[in-house]
Amino acid sequence: MKISVIGCGYLGAVHAACMAEIGHDVVGIDVDPHKIALLAEGKPPFFEPGLPEVLRSGMETGRLRFTTDISEAEGAQVHFIAVGTPQLAGSHSADVGFVDAAIRALLPHVASGNVIVGKSTVPVGTAARLAELIEESAPAATLVWNPEFLREGFAVSDTLAPDRLVYGVPAGDRGVAATAVLDSVYAIALARDTPRIVTDYATAELVKVAANAFLATKISFINAMAEIAEATGADVTMLADAIGHDPRIGRRFLNSGLGFGGGCLPKDIRAFQARAEELGLGASVAFLGEVDAINLRRRDRMVDLTRETLGGEIAGKRIAILGLAFKPNSDDVRDSPALEVASRLSAEGAIVRATDPEAIHTSRLLYPDLEYVDTPQEAVADADAVLVLTEWNEYRELLPEELGAVASTVILDGRNCLNRELWEDAGWLYRSLGRP
Ligand code: UGA
Repeated sequence: MKISVIGCGYLGAVHAACMAEIGHDVVGIDVDPHKIALLAEGKPPFFEPGLPEVLRSGMETGRLRFTTDISEAEGAQVHFIAVGTPQLAGSHSADVGFVDAAIRALLPHVASGNVIVGKSTVPVGTAARLAELIEESAPAATLVWNPEFLREGFAVSDTLAPDRLVYGVPAGDRGVAATAVLDSVYAIALARDTPRIVTDYATAELVKVAANAFLATKISFINAMAEIAEATGADVTMLADAIGHDPRIGRRFLNSGLGFGGGCLPKDIRAFQARAEELGLGASVAFLGEVDAINLRRRDRMVDLTRETLGGEIAGKRIAILGLAFKPNSDDVRDSPALEVASRLSAEGAIVRATDPEAIHTSRLLYPDLEYVDTPQEAVADADAVLVLTEWNEYRELLPEELGAVASTVILDGRNCLNRELWEDAGWLYRSLGRP
C-alpha cells in the first residue's frame, strides 16, 4: 500500500521505516531539511537501536524515501500524522499546532477515499475537531485516531510487533471502511493475533494518555514508597520485589530511583490535567499533580544525598556523572532527570565531569558549559564521588577495578541498578535512593 508519514521525529521516522519494512511503499515528510537530508542518506537523526538497519533496508528495496515536499503525499492511500505535541511554553497544555499545520498542509493533496491516521498524542477532543476540518475540504477522506505506544530504545520492535492496536473511527460505514484500510496496513501484526480495539475518537485519544498516566503513577508510587523507606530504614527495592510478585501489581515499572523523564510521560500527565481542567474535571486527575511532584522531588533528593554524602558541601567537589539520557538505549535528554541533576550540581559549584554512551551531543546542546568526556574512566579521574544516573548496561556491569584512580571511593546509585555487594566488597561507600 502507498503510505505517507508526516513528521519524521522519534515517532514518524521509526513508523515510516517500519511500514516500509513490512512491505509498504512509504514517503516520509518533514519540514526540517536537515533531518530529511540525514534520513535520505539512511542515517537516523537520533540514536535508536535497530533503526539504521530498517532505514537501510527500506532504501535498498526502494520502498522508502524522504522529502520536505508535502505534495509528494499525493497518491498515498493512507497518511499518518506523526508530528510532536510538546508542552506549550508557560503552560501545562499540549501544543497541537504542529498537528493542525500538518493536516492543513496535507489536505490539498488528499484524494477521495484516503484515510488520514493521527498517531500523535493529543488532548481528548482534538480528533473530533480535526475531523470537522477535514470534512470541510476533503469530505471523501476519513480520519482515524491510532495512538502509538512505542518506547524509545525499543521503538523498532514495538512498531513491528505492537502489543495492541487501537483505532478511533467515526461511526457507521465510513468507520467500517477505514478500519478495513488500517487492517490491511497492519495485516502482518493482525495475523499474529495482536489485540485490536476499534472504538470512537475520544476513547482512542484517552487510551494513550491514560496508559502514560498509569505508567507515570506506577513509577511515582514506588518513588513515594522510597521516600518513606528513606525515613524508616526500609529498602524500596526489596519492597518492589515483594509487592511485584502479586500479579495484580506486577514488577514492571516499579523501579525506584531518579524517576521518569523524556518527551512523553512528564508532558502527557501535565497536558492531561490541563485538558481535564478545561472540561471542568480537574479533580478527576488532580492526583497526577502529586505524581509529577513526587517525580520531581527525586531529583532534589539526589542532589541532597550527594551533598550529605560529601559531608554537607557540594561546591568545589569533583563529581563524576555516568549517564545523561532520560533512560538507557536513547540519546534523548528531554526532561532528563540525570541531566538536570548534573546541571544542578554544577550550578551549586561542583566540578562536574559527565559521560554517556550516546547522549553527550544532545546534552551539550542544552548545557554547553558542563564538561563532557567520552569514558567513565575519564569522568571518574580524581572524583570525590561517582553518580550513576542512567542505567546503561555498560554502567550496570562496571567493575570497581575498571574505573582507575578516584579521590575517594564513593558511589551513588541513582537508579538502583548496581550490584551493591560488589562495590561494598571492593571497599566503596555505596549510597542509593530509597535504601538504607
Ligand atoms: C513512554 C511509554 O512507555 C510508551 O508506551 C509511550 O508510547 C511513550 O512514552 C510515548 O508516549 O511516546 P518512553 O518515554 O520511551 O515511553 O519511556 P519509558 O520506557 O516509559 O520510560 C519513561 C521514564 O520512566 C524513563 O525516564 C525511565 O527511566 C523511567 N522509569 C521507567 C522509571 O523511573 N522506573 C521504571 O520502573 C520504569
